[in-house]
Amino acid sequence: MAATWTDMCPPSPQFTEANMSDQFGRVFLVTGGTSGIGYETAKTLYHLNGTIYITSRSESSALKAVESIKSSLPHSSQVIKPGRGSISYLQLNPSDLRSIKSSANELLKKEKRLDVIIHNADVMLPADPKQKTEQGYHQLGINVLAPFILQHYLTPLLLSTASLLDAKAFSTRVIWVSSSGHRASPAPDGVAWDNVNLEGTDKKAMNVMLAYEFARRFQDNGNRILSLSLHPGALKTGLQGNLPRWFYAIFGRLRYETRMGALTECWAAIREIDIGNGEAGLLGNKTRGENGGYVVPWGRWGEGHEGVMNGLIEKGTGERLWGLLEAILMEYM
Ligand SMILES: NC(=O)c1ccc[n+]([C@@H]2O[C@H](COP(=O)([O-])OP(=O)(O)OC[C@H]3O[C@@H](n4cnc5c(N)ncnc54)[C@H](OP(=O)(O)O)[C@@H]3O)[C@@H](O)[C@H]2O)c1
Repeated sequence: MAATWTDMCPPSPQFTEANMSDQFGRVFLVTGGTSGIGYETAKTLYHLNGTIYITSRSESSALKAVESIKSSLPHSSQVIKPGRGSISYLQLNPSDLRSIKSSANELLKKEKRLDVIIHNADVMLPADPKQKTEQGYHQLGINVLAPFILQHYLTPLLLSTASLLDAKAFSTRVIWVSSSGHRASPAPDGVAWDNVNLEGTDKKAMNVMLAYEFARRFQDNGNRILSLSLHPGALKTGLQGNLPRWFYAIFGRLRYETRMGALTECWAAIREIDIGNGEAGLLGNKTRGENGGYVVPWGRWGEGHEGVMNGLIEKGTGERLWGLLEAILMEYM
């Protein structure tokens, strides 16, 4: 089953622009922020006065998105006074793994802090099935290897931001955007280990796994970074643009306005967590509400697919995946 009932018909959001806090002085990186959920998320954070970077492969569509966000209005329910946000564009081509280091360096030149990274850019089906990234990957390259390598270069800045005096514990975050589709990934633990470059839903399982494994690796030494994966909801975006027409005929009505997906991303990115209630401990025997966990629409703790979570907690599949990706990426890092 690729989605649970509450994935498809979530309850009304409790965390909205009406209760989001001022993000002035905090820096956010949203990959793929030129359209869809990333665009709406960047817009929301911009109106909350954050310093926002969106990434794109195309300078012209990024500049168009930046101008469109600047000239947009905050949501009518927003309580925080807007007007102090900034938004700019960072060139990032997830299809060319060799280019990612220079994109990361560009950000490192500009910013002395980075509070939140949202790994949002993704491809579902290419227009041309033979389309590959520069290095011969497709979904694995764009959805997994590119965020992994970008994260590699930006983790030191994230760690130093988490130790700043003005950074509240676990307000520094890495968000790995997954999908309820990860529930359809291969048994028993979500990954087709014998051929990870095959197209399939296991790329979204890998996003869930990277969230957990990042939390596990960086939990020590007093690091106070929260790493989460999420399913944003079923939304009206261009993501499924290359799926067959029958898909829309059946599922079109079950998709929600794109802003709702931004509420899920913002919940993960900026909602204050309740440490006293155990929200920041590492995901262990519990499978929800902790560091490395999974968030569902429109901002609630959820549970990743049982096989994927069991693999992480009991079989160390996160460590296995991390090692595999490092081995693949050796020549680009
Ligand atoms: N929409 C849904 O119902 C849904 C459901 C579950 C999960 N999600 C997840 O939510 C995230 C955002 O999805 P969305 O629906 O907002 O998608 P979208 O509207 O298609 O936007 C995705 C972004 O990814 C970038 N992108 C697209 N194709 C790419 C490619 N071949 N190579 C590199 N970058 C590419 C685009 O940036 P540029 O073209 O500017 O480079 C675009 O801004 C994704 O991780 C997706 O898997 C969405």
